[in-house]
Amino acid sequence: MRSNHIVWHPAHITKEDRRRLNGHKSAILWFTGFSGAGKSTLSVAVEKELHHRGIRTYVLDGDNIRHGLNRNLGFSAEDRQENIRRIGEVSKLFIDAGIMTLTAFISPYRKDREMVRRLVGPDEFVEIYVKCSLEECEKRDPKGLYKKARKGEIKGFTGIDAPYEAPINPELIVETDKESLQQSVAKILYFLEEKGYLN
Ligand code: PPS
Repeated sequence: MRSNHIVWHPAHITKEDRRRLNGHKSAILWFTGFSGAGKSTLSVAVEKELHHRGIRTYVLDGDNIRHGLNRNLGFSAEDRQENIRRIGEVSKLFIDAGIMTLTAFISPYRKDREMVRRLVGPDEFVEIYVKCSLEECEKRDPKGLYKKARKGEIKGFTGIDAPYEAPINPELIVETDKESLQQSVAKILYFLEEKGYLN
């Protein structure tokens, strides 16, 4: 239960001060898509390019975060919502710290992604739909999870017996079953440059 006796303590150094020091803006690059679509691969590849250009970055990844901060959460709709809410709050802190933050979560529910967009503000939320057919994701099955889900060994697996709500109007779509990793990375970097995120 939240206490009513908590007061926000302002900092002397603002987000703008940190951005000026860094020489670039901060925002979330929010990768969403099926398991196996390529969210993690893309986020680390984009991070590498950004790092080489002198941009301060950090990647928050579903599998990793679920080992620590969100280890008490499962995959019910409620737990996924709480997962995304916490990631949204953590990302907001990273943005405040002036860091370009890349997140790789299935984030299957539109309303949860929109909650994060509202939380950080529309200018600082770049939704990247990592589009890949379910057939292709299932063929890739890098962790053997689709196979287990088909056999009923995992319940509530996204795309099999749990929903994925594709973005309606994302800032960007990359199609990992049609384009190469390099093409998708280039598309994302071009977008960030064009929109002035990198300076
Ligand atoms: S969510 O929906 O955003 O809360 O999920 P996320 O935190 O991104 O975690 C997804 C990874 O967890 C593994 N996994 C499952 N995915 C979907 N449904 C079920 N039931 C499930 N159980 C375990 C899976 O490896 C996901 O990894 P990625 O990186 O997406 O392949």
